[in-house]
Amino acid sequence: MSSGDRPELYDFHGVQMMPAFTATWERVQKFQARPDDVLIATYPKSGTTWVSYILDLLHFGQNDPERQTSLPIYQRVPFLEMAVSKPEKGTNYFGVDMANELTTKPRIIKTHYPVQFVPKSFWEQNTKIVYVARNAKDNMVSFYHFDRMATMEPAPGEWSDYFQRFLVGKMNYGSWYDHVNGWWQKKRNYSNLHYMFFEDLVEVKSLLAFVFWQNTGLEIDKLSRFLGLSVTPEIRQQITGQVQFDQMKNNAMTNYSTLGEAMDFKVSPFMRKGKVGDWKNHFTVAQNEEFDEDYEQKMKDATLQFRTVV
Ligand code: A3P
Repeated sequence: MSSGDRPELYDFHGVQMMPAFTATWERVQKFQARPDDVLIATYPKSGTTWVSYILDLLHFGQNDPERQTSLPIYQRVPFLEMAVSKPEKGTNYFGVDMANELTTKPRIIKTHYPVQFVPKSFWEQNTKIVYVARNAKDNMVSFYHFDRMATMEPAPGEWSDYFQRFLVGKMNYGSWYDHVNGWWQKKRNYSNLHYMFFEDLVEVKSLLAFVFWQNTGLEIDKLSRFLGLSVTPEIRQQITGQVQFDQMKNNAMTNYSTLGEAMDFKVSPFMRKGKVGDWKNHFTVAQNEEFDEDYEQKMKDATLQFRTVV
């Protein structure tokens, strides 16, 4: 699976992980969450950066303009369990230290952990948690291209192998199916969890927006209600504009271009396509059939529904 200096996955408490996200496990488990923190949790490539940026703008967009022009999103919103020290690649990142050093109120913190890995203080402090899920087909495609360009990830190999590995959960952070279901179940007994979908966030500039009751502004409204923020229609409109794909792609603070050699943009950009339905350009007919059959077996909870097209 690995090539060159790419890492290997290994079984960590029943989940496939790579060392960069388990190295500080003990310290992460002891992390002291606060009641006014906001945790954003996702399976990788589900729209984490998108929603992190929305959260940041909702909380700090109006009163801290310098933050918007000088601090990349991965510094504003520390990635709790990430621990990488590769000075030769320009990367030195210890998320747990960065989270502890945050002086903002709230502290907005990111994790890709499956629900059972989340440090217990988050539950004890009744911290607000935003979970973002993305349909598995697009999630898989996005993850594939990310693994091609992110040199710290395991090598993706051929698409056909990658496809099979995704189905059996041999991905960094394990099974997509377990991840989205685990967090969905948690919603039943933890009310401070806002579960949202990538597909709902996509701006639809037509009558379809009303049919599907979907667009960025609506999701921002729901999110701000959950966070207990009152947002004027003008600010909502402003944020809606700031977080559209092209804006974020051209914004050095959100497009990861400042990260250094950890990502090879010549292979694929971080802000790649931002579409619902790109899977159609990757899945063969046979793969799609195999996927759908397998999906039906794994996704038994009819209350958790994804859209794979808009
Ligand atoms: P694609 O690879 O399909 O383009 P994460 O932040 O969790 O790593 O997710 C990255 C994915 O979210 C990428 O998907 C990226 O393009 C997409 N994304 C990020 N910001 C977006 C936006 N404003 N609109 C649409 N998609 C966005």
